[in-house]
Amino acid sequence: MGVLDGKAAAVTGGGRGIGRGHCLHLAQQGAAVLVNDIDLDAAGAVCEEIGEQGGRATINTSDISTRDGARYLVAQCVEEFGAIHALVNNAGNVHDRSFLKMTDDEFMSVVRVHQCGTFMCSQEAALRMRDQGSGGAIVNTVSAAHFGNFGQTNYAGSKGAIASMTYTWALELARYGIRVNAISPAGTTRMSGTYKGPDGQDIKIPFIDPTQNGAAVAFLCSDHAMGISGQIFGTGNGRFAILEHPRYGTSVEKDGGWSTQDFLEEFEGHFKAKLEPIGIMKPPYPFHGGIKPPTG
Ligand SMILES: NC(=O)c1ccc[n+]([C@@H]2O[C@H](COP(=O)([O-])OP(=O)(O)OC[C@H]3O[C@@H](n4cnc5c(N)ncnc54)[C@H](O)[C@@H]3O)[C@@H](O)[C@H]2O)c1
Repeated sequence: MGVLDGKAAAVTGGGRGIGRGHCLHLAQQGAAVLVNDIDLDAAGAVCEEIGEQGGRATINTSDISTRDGARYLVAQCVEEFGAIHALVNNAGNVHDRSFLKMTDDEFMSVVRVHQCGTFMCSQEAALRMRDQGSGGAIVNTVSAAHFGNFGQTNYAGSKGAIASMTYTWALELARYGIRVNAISPAGTTRMSGTYKGPDGQDIKIPFIDPTQNGAAVAFLCSDHAMGISGQIFGTGNGRFAILEHPRYGTSVEKDGGWSTQDFLEEFEGHFKAKLEPIGIMKPPYPFHGGIKPPTG
């Protein structure tokens, strides 16, 4: 008996790394799993693993960054398993380059997989969940990189967009019984092997089991998470955390509005010490001395 008995779930990029863990956990909890990956061998190996554990899985090799691929992902899930109750948008790629050097192709190839793929797969799945009248769950994937991360304009921007889409779809799809949440996972994977520090050197991080994120995903896809939507959770490495939504902080109201002169006279007193640290590592705010054109 699992919490997903009788459910059908699709996982994009399920052939390796974090997505493989999602597939294994979903299957262990009783879901029939459509394992998507553009890498046929990787998707096949995960399906085999699920089969050996007594679960039910099928391979889908859609390129989820295309409308045809997204449409086929959902159609195949329905054809094989009779319905789609859960979609996990996990597939991802990276093409890191500092902002001033990033090409249009590098930018768009990452936006296409993360942001456009999440948009198209979710839309196809939500239309089907609405039409089958069952409700359902969508779990998106963000990253702490969306706080800002050196060299990741394309990736950080896509992940920020996915966070905003998560909040928006939670509002729009509640009427159909569809819940939309996201995780910000952690794991040692092919992708994490590409991480570099600001000095351009490889970052050495201790091994983190990428499959651990799957338990949270299985919970979020289950009926036990019926009251949870529009939320983002940090998962992996033994941690489960609520990612707080952006919100207005320090605020000062003025009758008649702020004049430019007001800013000149009062900004420093009210706000300067409250400016937010930026970036994934939240280093001390670096610009208190002022951002000035380079000299010499
Ligand atoms: N590894 C981490 O610590 C970490 C941290 C934060 C967020 N994430 C996110 O978790 C997700 C999984 O990352 P991972 O580390 O397991 O990466 P990974 O590179 O190990 O696996 C990603 C999988 O997605 C597949 N894929 C890529 N493009 C695809 C497409 N167009 N259609 C279908 N499949 C496609 C790849 O073939 C690959 O198997 C990504 O969304 C990533 O941004 C990972």
